[in-house]
Amino acid sequence: MLKVAVIGCGTIANAAHIPAYMKNGGVRIKYFCDIIPERAKAAVEKYGCGTAVTDYHDILKDPEVEAVSVCTPNNMHAPISIDCLRAGKNVLCEKPAARSYAEALEMQKAQHETGKILNIGVVNRFNDSVNLIKDFIDDGKLGEVYHVIASFRAHRSIPGLGGAFTTKAIAGGGALIDWGVHYLDIVMYCCGDPAPKTVSGETFCRLGRDIKNYAYTDMWAGPPKLDGTYDVEDSVAALIRTAGPVISLEGAWAQNIGPQETYIDFIGDKGGIRLDYGGKFAFYTAEHGALIECRPEFNMRQHFETEINAFVDCVGTGKKLPSHIDTFIITQKMMQAVYDSAAQHREVAL
Ligand SMILES: NC(=O)c1ccc[n+]([C@@H]2O[C@H](COP(=O)([O-])OP(=O)(O)OC[C@H]3O[C@@H](n4cnc5c(N)ncnc54)[C@H](O)[C@@H]3O)[C@@H](O)[C@H]2O)c1
Repeated sequence: MLKVAVIGCGTIANAAHIPAYMKNGGVRIKYFCDIIPERAKAAVEKYGCGTAVTDYHDILKDPEVEAVSVCTPNNMHAPISIDCLRAGKNVLCEKPAARSYAEALEMQKAQHETGKILNIGVVNRFNDSVNLIKDFIDDGKLGEVYHVIASFRAHRSIPGLGGAFTTKAIAGGGALIDWGVHYLDIVMYCCGDPAPKTVSGETFCRLGRDIKNYAYTDMWAGPPKLDGTYDVEDSVAALIRTAGPVISLEGAWAQNIGPQETYIDFIGDKGGIRLDYGGKFAFYTAEHGALIECRPEFNMRQHFETEINAFVDCVGTGKKLPSHIDTFIITQKMMQAVYDSAAQHREVAL
């Protein structure tokens, strides 16, 4: 029985990590930790196990705990993950690894020095649809994939305006690091994690600036904090040249366009794929002078469960998963380059 601790008992812990651990017959949650005591206590009551603590250092002292999920805001990912690794724990840390590439490198260093597992919550690497696309690309069904276009654009979807998600000192950035990270990471995974070469990006902090007058219909992680901070981007555009395809990113938590556009187009010289983000995909090709379009049907498992079961298994086997910090670090490096390029208004070479 693997004894685990969940650090940060907010949305993603309750929606994904805790239910997946509870379903896994080989796991017992020993601690629920949150700096808000009511949240840790509520988890103990709701799930009927574990002890509520408010200071994660209490968990470090318990040798029985072998694995932890870090589900706190981004600013605490690096310090908590590093302390856990140095205390001999295996870590699944939510995405992004950290607020900056420099912080993520510190995490990677601690992983290398301790030899413990450090996986990042890039859950789409465990998504059956994404894995099928990777198989199609690896099998050559698309030919050479030369361009990938990722669109993560919503009408009015700034999370918790004025709060942790929109405060750079806590989150590290906005739409790109919070949402675009999944899209960029899917592209990297499906295309074999090609080495990035140059990055050109611009970020915009526009629609959320006037917190009081920001119009919206619903707000996740809300309600807005009227006296809060909004100093991250609500939209982003970037062009990334890699050793593989060129990647175009178009992202917006909020824009003055109604339809939500959430897809990734993998464009090859033999075939193309549009992934409907979070769902299935369409495959396009041409044969014998005919244009062919098909929508593969397959079973999709709950990807958070698949991710967390894989984490639990690898604690036992030591197997290196595709979400290991050594892989994710490239995605974090590219996001940093987009922010650096935007700050300097020029292309950055990697
Ligand atoms: N993989 C995904 O698709 C996905 C989805 C949502 C959120 N996330 C990530 O998960 C993380 C948390 O997001 P959320 O939406 O659950 O936020 P949240 O605010 O709902 O929950 C975070 C919790 O961490 C607690 N916390 C803060 N500092 C702490 C500390 N030092 N020790 C213990 N607890 C602490 C807070 O009190 C809060 O309850 C973020 O990094 C976010 O990017 C990932």
